Amino acid sequence: MYMNQELKILTFTHKHCNIRDISKYVIQSDVESAKVDILNRLKAEFHIDEIMYLSTCNRVMYLIYQHKLSPTPDMRRWIHYINPTISEQDLNEADIKSEVYTGQEAIEHVFELSSSLDSLVVGEREIFRQLRDAYDWSREQQLCGDNTRLLMRFAIQAAKDVFTNTGIGERALSVVALAIQKMMALKPKKNARILLVGAGQTNHLVSKFLLKYQFDNVEVFNRSIEKANAIAEKFGRKGQSLSDLLHFTGGFDIIFVCTASHEHIINEPLLKLLRNGDTSDKLVIDLAIPSNVAPEVKDRSDITYIDIDQLRHLASENLEFRRAEVSKARILLAGHIDTYQSALQQRKIEKAMQSVPQAIKSIREKAISEVFAKDLDNMDAATRAKVEEMMAYMEKKCISIPIKAAKAMVL
Ligand SMILES: NC(=O)c1ccc[n+]([C@@H]2O[C@H](COP(=O)([O-])OP(=O)(O)OC[C@H]3O[C@@H](n4cnc5c(N)ncnc54)[C@H](OP(=O)(O)O)[C@@H]3O)[C@@H](O)[C@H]2O)c1
Repeated sequence: MYMNQELKILTFTHKHCNIRDISKYVIQSDVESAKVDILNRLKAEFHIDEIMYLSTCNRVMYLIYQHKLSPTPDMRRWIHYINPTISEQDLNEADIKSEVYTGQEAIEHVFELSSSLDSLVVGEREIFRQLRDAYDWSREQQLCGDNTRLLMRFAIQAAKDVFTNTGIGERALSVVALAIQKMMALKPKKNARILLVGAGQTNHLVSKFLLKYQFDNVEVFNRSIEKANAIAEKFGRKGQSLSDLLHFTGGFDIIFVCTASHEHIINEPLLKLLRNGDTSDKLVIDLAIPSNVAPEVKDRSDITYIDIDQLRHLASENLEFRRAEVSKARILLAGHIDTYQSALQQRKIEKAMQSVPQAIKSIREKAISEVFAKDLDNMDAATRAKVEEMMAYMEKKCISIPIKAAKAMVL
């Protein structure tokens, strides 16, 4: 197996580093040219042939190719380059918090990263896109080359296989997605009357799902009217204030309630008003912590009540399911890593053999122009032509021998 000792990874991830501390180890500039400049300086300083830079909210990764005899960069010096104003304490901690991988370990890290096995949330596909973008960017900035290209090609193929052929990315983990699943399981009509109470980030996300599933009979109530409007507009409506709930006569089938209020918002008297005489069963989805729904409403037999605890329980079950898929993913990855190793070995041989034709050609030229020059000059034209023809034939045949032999060694 080809050891690939030129490949090294220096990384800070959620596994060993507090997420808010990761920002200390990223390049301290949002300006693209400044980033490229720093990465090029790292290349020069640490004798690096290729570098790829990935920065996400829970990891930063420097993937490098160096000559196999070059020492792995000293972490303190490295961090000092990318963050010159870092404190002495953070610099000291960099050694403890960093993860450094070389050769086979580095390959395995990249494959696990691309297929989200190393993610904070196993199975999240976002890392796959982020890794591809990081590679595209590093390539466009001419920071990396052929080695990174080959590694990324195989790591991306492996990730596609893992996402397609295991359940690692299946089963939703976000409470909003799970709440919508629960709602959809009850098969609501497309014209179901839906009330969103609260217009923060959570109900904003709920509204996106509602639009996706083409529910448009949606009213939005919120303490501040501007935020209510921002969501209601998407349904071609105007937002309403929380106090408007007391006068709302449009009826409802489903309520999503999610505010940061510590008071119950949906209580028995309000429910009665909102029902407006309608006695059919209703769905109330309460995503707030603490709950925004009074206990007497939750307990009613004509109310299907879904709260965040049930959804969180489901989310952790789903996460367990995804984790159980990790072992299947690892088996697939092992196969892809083997295929990558063979391709890499072949590529190395091809590169090494690139000089063979020129070397053999030079031998032939030297033989004609120097070593056997006098002998050739003494020959008649026909003999000389035949000798040169034989040498050209030998050259052609000899070129393919080492290439064939090397390829046979790999297969
Ligand atoms: N479901 C989840 O996954 C999840 C995740 C995180 C948090 N939460 C919980 O969900 C609730 C809201 O989360 P969020 O992500 O939407 O937060 P957010 O973006 O901060 O929005 C807060 C919402 O609550 C409203 N609000 C705040 N204080 C209020 C009060 N005293 N009376 C009435 N309304 C009030 C705000 O109205 P204004 O626009 O007027 O400020 C806004 O609509 C919180 O209980 C939070 O703990 C849920």
